[in-house]
Amino acid sequence: MDAAARKRIPQPQASDFAADIIEGLSATPKRVPAKYFYDGAGSQLFERITELPEYYPTRCELRILRDHARDIAKLIPAGAALVEFGSGSSKKARIMLRAAPKLAAYVPVDICGEMIEQEAADLRPDFPGLKVLPVTADICFPFELPVEAKAAPARVGFFPGSTIGNFEPHEAAAFLRNAALILGPGAKLIIGADLIKPIEVLNAAYNDDAGVTAKFNLNLLVRINRELGGTFKLDTFEHHAFYNRERHRIEMHLASLQRQKVKVAGGTFEFRAGETIHTENSYKYSVESLSALARGVGWVPVGVWTDPRDYFSIQAFRLMGE
Ligand code: AVJ
Repeated sequence: MDAAARKRIPQPQASDFAADIIEGLSATPKRVPAKYFYDGAGSQLFERITELPEYYPTRCELRILRDHARDIAKLIPAGAALVEFGSGSSKKARIMLRAAPKLAAYVPVDICGEMIEQEAADLRPDFPGLKVLPVTADICFPFELPVEAKAAPARVGFFPGSTIGNFEPHEAAAFLRNAALILGPGAKLIIGADLIKPIEVLNAAYNDDAGVTAKFNLNLLVRINRELGGTFKLDTFEHHAFYNRERHRIEMHLASLQRQKVKVAGGTFEFRAGETIHTENSYKYSVESLSALARGVGWVPVGVWTDPRDYFSIQAFRLMGE
C-alpha cells in the first residue's frame, strides 16, 4: 500500500498512555493494556523473566529456532526484508539472520525505541552486508515500512515470543490482517506461539520464586506514578497470575490489598479491598487453533516446528492465492 492509500484509511494516531490508563481504570473490571509494561525498566525486567528457570517459553523457542533454522530459512526468498513485530531484544532474529544470509534488510519494529536503536547498533557490525532499519511503532496500528524494505522483492514477517498471545483472539485476527497489508504481495509470516500444556507448568511460569514477574507487573504502577502523576502505593498491590482453563489464557492482575483511592492524571479511582486491575492476558494456542485463526484472515499454513515436549511452536504461513 502506498502512502496516499494509507492516509485514506481512518486510523488512530498512536497509542495514548494517559487516555488508555484513564479509560482502563474507569472500566469495570479495571484493566490496563499489556503493551504498557514495556518502558525501559519493564523491558529489562522482561529480559530477566526470559532467564527464569520457571519461564520455559523463551528457551523452548530458542531451541526450536536453533534446531530448525535452516528449514525455516528456506521460506525466506533471496533479497527479502525480514520485518520483526515487537522485537525487543533481537536474540531470536540473530538466529534467523545467520540462517538466511541472502536477506537484504532487517526491520525490527518495537514500541520501545530506546531498546531497538541499541539492538540495531549491536547488530550492524555482526551483519555487515545487511541493512538494519529499526522502526519505533506500536504494532497494534498500521505503520509505514522504510523505503528500502518496501523496495525488496518480498517481505517476511517474524512475530516470535508468543506476543500474539497478548491479543484477544479477534485482535490477533486483526493483527494478522494488518500484517498482510504491511508486508504486501508474496509475504510470508513466521509466528512463535505458546502452546496449551499442563496447568502446573503454566502457573509456575507466571509465578516465579524470585518474584521477577511480580516486579514486572508492579512496574506498571511505577510507570503510571512517574509518567502520569499517579499516587499508587506499591506495597498495597499484589501480583496475581493464574491459568484460566475455559479461555486458554494466563491472566495477570494487580490486586489492591485494601480499600483505597488512587489519583492518576487528575482523576480519582476507588478500589475495593481485593479489587484487581487486569494487566495481561497471555493466550495459549494449539497448532490447530492458531492455523484456523490465520486461515480465516487469508494466511495458509506452510510449516510447523515444536520442541520435544510440545511446549512451544513456530508456525509459518503464506498469503492465500499466491
Ligand atoms: C511477552 C507476552 C509473551 O505472555 O509470556 C511474561 C509476557 N508476562 N511474564 C508472556 C509475560 C509475564 C510474555 N509475552
